Amino acid sequence: MRTPVHQISSRSETTFMRISFANISSSRRGALVVTATVDSELSRTGTAVDKSMGGAIQKAMGSGRFSGKKGQVLEFPAPAGLKSSRVLVVGLGKAADVAALTMEAAGGTVVGRLAISGETEVAAAIDPIKGSKISAAEAAARFAYGANLGSYRFDRYRTKLEDDKKPSLGSVVVMSRDAAGAKKAYMPLDRIASGVYVTRDLVSEPANVKYAETIAADARGLRKLGVKVEVLGERRMQQMGMGALLGVNQGSEREAKLLVMQWNGAPQRAGQRPVAFIGKGVTFDTGGISIKPSGGMEDMKWDMAGAGAVIGVMHALAARKARANVVGVCGLVENMPSGTAQRPGDVVKSMSGQTVEVINTDAEGRLVLADALWYTQKRFRPQAMIDLATLTGAIIVSLGHVHAGLFSDNDELANTLTEAGKAEGETVWRLPIGDQYDKDINSDIADMKNVGAGRAAGSITAAQFLKRFANNVPWAHLDIAGMAWSNKARPTVPKGGTGFGVRLLDRWVADNHEVA
Ligand code: BES
Ligand code: MN
Ligand code: ZN
Repeated sequence: MRTPVHQISSRSETTFMRISFANISSSRRGALVVTATVDSELSRTGTAVDKSMGGAIQKAMGSGRFSGKKGQVLEFPAPAGLKSSRVLVVGLGKAADVAALTMEAAGGTVVGRLAISGETEVAAAIDPIKGSKISAAEAAARFAYGANLGSYRFDRYRTKLEDDKKPSLGSVVVMSRDAAGAKKAYMPLDRIASGVYVTRDLVSEPANVKYAETIAADARGLRKLGVKVEVLGERRMQQMGMGALLGVNQGSEREAKLLVMQWNGAPQRAGQRPVAFIGKGVTFDTGGISIKPSGGMEDMKWDMAGAGAVIGVMHALAARKARANVVGVCGLVENMPSGTAQRPGDVVKSMSGQTVEVINTDAEGRLVLADALWYTQKRFRPQAMIDLATLTGAIIVSLGHVHAGLFSDNDELANTLTEAGKAEGETVWRLPIGDQYDKDINSDIADMKNVGAGRAAGSITAAQFLKRFANNVPWAHLDIAGMAWSNKARPTVPKGGTGFGVRLLDRWVADNHEVA
């Protein structure tokens, strides 16, 4: 029984900060940004600006707590002797340590400070940083990237925002000695940021707006970027024997979907076998009959963040025309309790033929991924499969909100993912898997059960479950339960859906799978 559902518009909406590049000049309207490194080493433009201001900057740096540390900002309203409405001095930390992520954070910090300040435009002088390895162009491009990522807002359901809370800043001009080089370096980053935005929107949207059908409809929009998109419904999944995935959706009024995306960016002659990303897309996780406590249950609207990241990275790869073949597969379901819901103790048959005793209907993500993984390896024979899932609360106990959990028995995959994560500031930490954990999910009446015997090593037993459906294809699992949502704003990651995984996977493809 499928009743029609009240629906509010599902248009995906993104904030747009205009980003442009220019030569360095200190005579501009709006806010002016200059940089400093420790200990209070003012940039070249900063020094010139200080002169126009009669030495006010040096004076303030000498008397206060500002020392050029990372994240520090010194602000001068209405400076005399300049066109600018205000001057901001942004700390970058030790010059020798200034790297891409430092510049991104600086860009994010600036837009965070000015977003609702009344300022409409900011011009940032990103001078070459003496003593740092980063080039002038790269420093400026990364500053712009951080400004873009940090200016994200999810405001579409606020109809009563007071005027002084509305975003005022609409334009960031990044000034560089090498403006042309900066712009060139920024272009692909802009595309990746759009992918991050796609994910943040999907993750932040409530479950009455984004569910299997509407998420799949959004993903169809990737066709205009050249992505091949297929959406399989329940009939098809039934025919293929996806009893594990379908069991999870059995209590829902909405139809489950399997979303299949293909980006074929490698030249034909390379004959490259694809890599595959698989996402958990539980559009809402009540726990099912093993129902969750009501406190905090609203968080389970973002139990589709794995799928959101896969859709976002497909967007990023296609938009920047990555020279690689990549497949994205998302299992989209809703885990609801109802008269038709699956029960604890039910046994389901997966597409692989393996049977599962469902001990706890709240351990649903692994059931969804079981069929999505099997389907992916069977259809695409990928070189490698990486799944992303908000799989366990236990991973938050282990790693907090600093690292995603990484599980793999393939060292090369684990190492390349770890490196990509470090480079992009989306870090992952490897945890062990192995036979001793695997034993724990054996069932007395089926091939396996969907939870371990006790609560011990909950994230690992979940990974062991997934491994049984990878069919020996090189595979890694990222448990992103602690990373998909943020309650605390960071310079390039505002509160809410973080978009975690997009940058990591895009980088992993760029560094390991792109054909020259
Ligand atoms: N979606 C949850 C995991 C989760 C918890 C994600 C908190 C984000 C924040 C998952 O489906 C779940 O319910 N896992 C159970 C597994 C248990 C029943 C073995 C959990 O972690 O409690
Ligand atoms: Mn659950
Ligand atoms: Zn879940």
